[in-house]
Amino acid sequence: MKKKITLIGAGQIGGTLAHLAALKKIGDVVLFDVAKGLATGKALDIAQSAPIENFDIKISGTDNYNDTKNSDVIIITAGVPRKPGMTRDDLLGINLKIIKEVAEGIKKTSPEAFVICITNPLDVIVMALQKYTGFSKNKVVGMAGILDSSRFKYFLSLELKVNPYKIKSFVLGGHGDTMVSMVNHTIVDGKNLSDLIKSGNISQSKVEEIVERTKNGGAEIVKHLQKGSAFYAPASSGIEMAESYLKDQKKELPCAAYLQGEYGVKDLYVGVPVIIGKKGVEKVVQINLDENEKKLFQNSIKAVKELFDAAKKIDPSL
Ligand code: APR
Repeated sequence: MKKKITLIGAGQIGGTLAHLAALKKIGDVVLFDVAKGLATGKALDIAQSAPIENFDIKISGTDNYNDTKNSDVIIITAGVPRKPGMTRDDLLGINLKIIKEVAEGIKKTSPEAFVICITNPLDVIVMALQKYTGFSKNKVVGMAGILDSSRFKYFLSLELKVNPYKIKSFVLGGHGDTMVSMVNHTIVDGKNLSDLIKSGNISQSKVEEIVERTKNGGAEIVKHLQKGSAFYAPASSGIEMAESYLKDQKKELPCAAYLQGEYGVKDLYVGVPVIIGKKGVEKVVQINLDENEKKLFQNSIKAVKELFDAAKKIDPSL
């Protein structure tokens, strides 16, 4: 039987997720949005490319949670982006409310689903989503690290003139200004990035520049677009997680996952490398951090905790 993928939010990322899911034929797709016409229109548009692209999947749009019943995977992008003049807390308040509504909708209809959250502020929203749904922690996960590390790898590939696919790296910590690019755990076409720095193939300052550009990767795109934020690479990242779960690929992917003592962190969602397979998050991969990486990681944890405290002030039930 075909797998069922529900996309909550049919905006920029939601629509792209639907398109990629269809092209990759990973399952039937239901697009859900409170703005019903948007989901139906995008579903119909993508469906009409089936004879050209040769995919045989069902794709539909709805504003009714009953149509999302028994989904295998749910990817959530419902929310509003930050607008000029809006504080981080304002955004948090609005998106928390939306996530609570989404949680109510999916917990009754798809209690067995693997749920991937993309809505920002990511680490806090995914934590709230798990609490609101009560789903097992290994079945609720946030998308951030794949995107952040993909940006890091891409910028490096431009500088080193290497196929971006041949670069392995990851980013740890929260999805925000405090993310930690793991320079010492980066492999470029089989060679350690730190060795390439030593041998002069790339300077330390250039790498630092790329680390900074990665942190601001989302903001750089927002500045160009003027309206809306990134959606192609975020959608690719979400689909990679969904595919690893549906096909039991057991890929090691940086994701926002619930930590229960790993990396010295308890009861918090933070970006770490995890194995995603048919059981959801099957394992948190522990990597030895040097003193500097530990310091940066702790700083990131602090930022996520502070934001979660702000969320608890908005909704004491969290
Ligand atoms: N239930 C379902 N959908 C909702 C709800 C809700 N309660 N509230 C809003 N939406 C829908 C909107 O109607 C809109 O179509 O969520 C969609 C969001 O789409 P966009 O505004 O295009 O945003 P997008 O670029 O897709 O990003 C979505 O992901 O990366 C994050 O920061 C980003 O939080 C944002 C989210």
